[in-house]
Amino acid sequence: MTAVIHHHGSRGTTPLVLLHAFPLDARMWDEVIALLPRQHIIAVDLPGFGESAASADPQGTTLESMADAVATALTEAGVDRAVFAGLSMGGYVAMALAERHREMITGLALLSTKAAADPPAARETRLEVARQAMGTEGAGAVAAMVDKLVGLTTTGTRPRVRAQVSTWLSEAPPHGIAGAQRAMAARPDRHQVLAGLQVPALVVHGAEDALATADDHDRMADQLGVDVMTLNGAGHLCAVEVPAEVAVALADLMGRAGH
Ligand code: MLT
Repeated sequence: MTAVIHHHGSRGTTPLVLLHAFPLDARMWDEVIALLPRQHIIAVDLPGFGESAASADPQGTTLESMADAVATALTEAGVDRAVFAGLSMGGYVAMALAERHREMITGLALLSTKAAADPPAARETRLEVARQAMGTEGAGAVAAMVDKLVGLTTTGTRPRVRAQVSTWLSEAPPHGIAGAQRAMAARPDRHQVLAGLQVPALVVHGAEDALATADDHDRMADQLGVDVMTLNGAGHLCAVEVPAEVAVALADLMGRAGH
């Protein structure tokens, strides 16, 4: 399993590595990247999405194998340390990286995500979506997610953002959807991993997030020893909905990490 990485800005400094949400790809970070022209940024296509092929066996995709694929791609590019920012599924991968490749992490941003495992009903829903994606529905299995991914403010006032998210959902690769849903269904609780991290951190919650709660973010922030940054007017995909606020927060984290 491999992860394609996309470099932006001048190489040579410690990069900011961006990990995308399900079932999107590196493009979801484009607006944030454009607002940080002086940073070396690496946007990742996680296995199964964008330019990264899915595992030949979607049953075999795990968040741990995704994290290992990211670590390998970075190492092969000569990057041994980075600040990682993961949004939702990207956050799950970032937490798996923190468990398995702790030495690579000089700072951590978790946006619209949670360290808790799924309850049984949520797992079942994920496995059903995986089956639908691999059946006749394909990307149609995730079309309705747009209502959960963007907040009410975006639905009401940012029609182009909502339309862009719907387009991305329609392009989501069925093997990627299935593999990632099975991987997310199997993820463990990783609060203890966060408690053991001694790096500058950031936790961001869109006030209109329909998928990850304020409590989810409070619990991660407690473990990391930081306060939650709440973004008004943003839902789950805060980096797409309010990229300027997210870019400022990530630039501040890079500064705190000494980069
Ligand atoms: C995401 O945005 O990556 C997904 O909502 C993650 C999830 O389903 O838990």
